Amino acid sequence: MTSEVFGRNIAAAATRLRAGEIVAFPTETVYGLGADISNLSAVRRIFEIKERPLNHPLIVHFADIALLPYWSQEIPDAAWKLAERFWPGPLTLILPRSRHVPRDVTGGQDLVGLRIPDHPVAIALLNELGSKKALAAPSANRFGRVSPTTAAHVREELGGAIDMILDGGPCKVGLESTIVGFSGDTATILRPGGISLVALEEVLHGEVVFPRVNNSTVRVSGSLSSHYAPLTPLEMWKTETLWRRVRELEVEGLRTVVLGWSEMGAIIPENNNTLYFSMPHEATGYARELYATLRRYDQEKFDRILVEAPPDNPAWLAIADRLQRASCRPIDKFEFK
Ligand code: TXA
Ligand code: MG
Repeated sequence: MTSEVFGRNIAAAATRLRAGEIVAFPTETVYGLGADISNLSAVRRIFEIKERPLNHPLIVHFADIALLPYWSQEIPDAAWKLAERFWPGPLTLILPRSRHVPRDVTGGQDLVGLRIPDHPVAIALLNELGSKKALAAPSANRFGRVSPTTAAHVREELGGAIDMILDGGPCKVGLESTIVGFSGDTATILRPGGISLVALEEVLHGEVVFPRVNNSTVRVSGSLSSHYAPLTPLEMWKTETLWRRVRELEVEGLRTVVLGWSEMGAIIPENNNTLYFSMPHEATGYARELYATLRRYDQEKFDRILVEAPPDNPAWLAIADRLQRASCRPIDKFEFK
């Protein structure tokens, strides 16, 4: 890609989007693959590029909270409260769509996922497009793979297939948005993410439903197993069993990278076949680095990525969720309460 199509030229990106082209852009969570929602062929191209089934809805990104009733209808009070508190930010609200949101964007459903991203480049791009414009943007990766958290990741994975990449630096959250659906004023987390369960409950002064990872029947693509996965087989082990597994793989002669976060996890002896990598031991830093770390070790062609299971603590909910889905050996159960 030339510098013309890889950089910071927001006006050029808006011109391309208006012409129905596909532009990857940064958000605070991960990079998105953007198309003008009013352009049907651009929206269809997103599904083709991502190799994503047509019935998996796209999130609609817009800039002005006053236009929430323009893009959706029958908005419950609980949704307004969350929008006012957390937008711009890593929260997607699932609401009945208005006629301004085409069905192709929502995978044929009458509900739409909406969010205002907290990134200056994304907001500048949306403003440049115009107030009643919105961008459909799934994460800028192929279906089922790890989401990109830098512009370089997008270029590596999709460079040849898209028209432009806006570079806004590394994403500060690093995991996708929290997705919340409503039944009346009861909020349900459909995908844990950048906004925690506890933070949602504080604003709503009540319980927020969170169906457990393994028995969720909710139809979001993020709820398929083997999602958010690196190509290298990834195994998650609790701290106490991690070292034993490392030894087994060592005996088999496999090249293994171990991603640990605790002091206990760190006492694993390194040998010629085993590399230990120390992840941040608090959730915010861990989330920010996770996807970039998985990509890096995927490229280094290890036989296995071994991950020390995160603490059983609500702050780590989204991280545990993504690791469960990435793992070919999900851990028995996280409780988080
Ligand atoms: O942080 C994020 O949400 C990123 C950035 C780019 O904004 N986007 C993202 O999009 O993660 P995507 O397409 O990779 O994942 C969106 C999830 C999917 O699992 C999709 O099924 C669900 O949101 N979703 C979107 N609209 C929905 C709807 N109307 N009903 C149910 N689920 C919906
Ligand atoms: Mg995705």
